[in-house]
Amino acid sequence: MNILLTGGAGYIGSHTCVSLIESGHRAVVADNLSNSSAEAVKRVERITGQKVRFYKTDLRDTPAVEEIFKSESIGCVIHFAGLKSVAESVEKPLAYYENNLDATFSLCEAMRKFSVKNLVFSSSATVYGNPQNVPIKEDAPVAPFNPYGRTKLMIEQVLEDLHASDPSWNIVLLRYFNPVGAHPSGLIGEDPADIPNNLMPYISRVAIGRLDEVRVFGNDYPTPDATGVRDYIHVMDLAQGHVRALEKLSEKCGLFTCNLGTGRGYSVLEMISAFEKACGKKIPYRITERRPGDIAECWADPSLAQKELGWRAKYGIEDMCAHAWRWQSMNPEGYGKE
Ligand code: NAD
Ligand code: WQD
Repeated sequence: MNILLTGGAGYIGSHTCVSLIESGHRAVVADNLSNSSAEAVKRVERITGQKVRFYKTDLRDTPAVEEIFKSESIGCVIHFAGLKSVAESVEKPLAYYENNLDATFSLCEAMRKFSVKNLVFSSSATVYGNPQNVPIKEDAPVAPFNPYGRTKLMIEQVLEDLHASDPSWNIVLLRYFNPVGAHPSGLIGEDPADIPNNLMPYISRVAIGRLDEVRVFGNDYPTPDATGVRDYIHVMDLAQGHVRALEKLSEKCGLFTCNLGTGRGYSVLEMISAFEKACGKKIPYRITERRPGDIAECWADPSLAQKELGWRAKYGIEDMCAHAWRWQSMNPEGYGKE
C-alpha cells in the first residue's frame, strides 16, 4: 500500500518522505511546486536509494487528483500541501482561503470516492493564537489571529465534521510547533523562495552571506532575555512523528489531535548563539521593533504524543543548527544551483 504525500516536495514533506521510505513504506508525491522544487524529490531518491512516484499536480484540480488514486494503490494520505506564510496571508487572504481550503475539499472528495479514509493533516500551533498558558496542551482554547492560521483551524473543523458524518474515517491532526533543521546528509532542507520570514532560515542566510544581519524583532517581551521564545523542533523528529501517526491510523484511531513539539522553548538570542557555535562564525544582529502579530512565548506540552504515539523529539538545539548549517553551506543557493 502506498502513502500519498500532498506537498511532498516541500520542506516537511520531503523529510517525511525519507523517514517513511526508511520505515518500509512506499511514497507517492503530489505537489504543484508552487513553493518547492522537483529537485527535492530527486534528492529524497538519492538519500533513500528508492524511486518516488511524483505527480506535478495542483490539488484543486479534482480530476487530476482522482487520476492519482486510479493509478496508484493509496492506503493513506499525509496532507502537507498548502500556503504557509503568515505575512502573505494577511496581504492575500482570499488566495490563502482558496488554496488551502479548496485543495483540502478536492483531496477529501477524491479520497471519499476511492474509499481511502486514512488521513494525517499538517496543522499548526498557530491555531492556539496567543496562548493563555504554556506549555500548551491540545485542549487549550483555539483562536488563530491571521488568515493562514484560520485556514488551519477551518480545515481541522472540516475534518472533524467529515469524521462525525462518517466515523469510518481515521484522521490525525498534527499541530507542529516551529520546524527547523535539515536532513543530516545536507542533501535536503528548507529553501524559501524569497527572503525568509522564519528565524532559522534567516539566520542561515546571514551566516552564508546572502543577507547582512538578523533583525531581532523586539527585546521587550516578558521572557528571560526579553526576546521571543519558541519550541523549535528538528524536522527529522517531526518526520518521525508522521511515521508514528500512520501507525495510529492503522489502530483505527478515529479523530485524534496531537501536538508535535519538544516541550522546551529557546529565545531568539539563544538561537543566534547556538547557530554561531554550529557555523563557527559571528552572526551580526540588530534589535528592531516587535513584528506585528508576534506572541511572547509558545511551547508545547508533548506528553500526549509520547503517550499515544510513543513519540518524543530526540534532537537538541545543537543538531538543529548543525544540520541547518550543513544544508545551507552545501547548497548556498538552495535547490537552485547544485
Ligand atoms: P512548504 O511550502 O515547503 O510545503 C508545502 C508544499 O505544498 C509546497 O511544496 C507547495 O508547492 C505545495 N502546495 C501548495 N499548494 C498546493 C496545491 N494547491 N496543490 C499542490 N501542492 C501545493 O511548507 P512546509 O514548511 O513543508 O509545510 C508543510 C505543511 O505544514 C503546510 O501545510 C504548513 O502550513 C504546515 N506547517 C508548517 C510549519 C512551518 O513552520 N514550516 C509549521 C506548522 C505547520
Ligand atoms: C520565531 C521567533 C520572531 C524572524 C511562524 C508562524 C507559525 C508557524 C511557524 C506555520 C519569533 C523572531 C523571526 C526574524 C526574529 N508556521 N524572529 N527575526 O512566528 O513563531 O511562527 O512559523 O504554521 O504559524 O507564525 O516563527 O520563525 O517567524 O519566528 O526576531 O527575522 O523569531 O519574532 O520570536 P513564528 P518565526
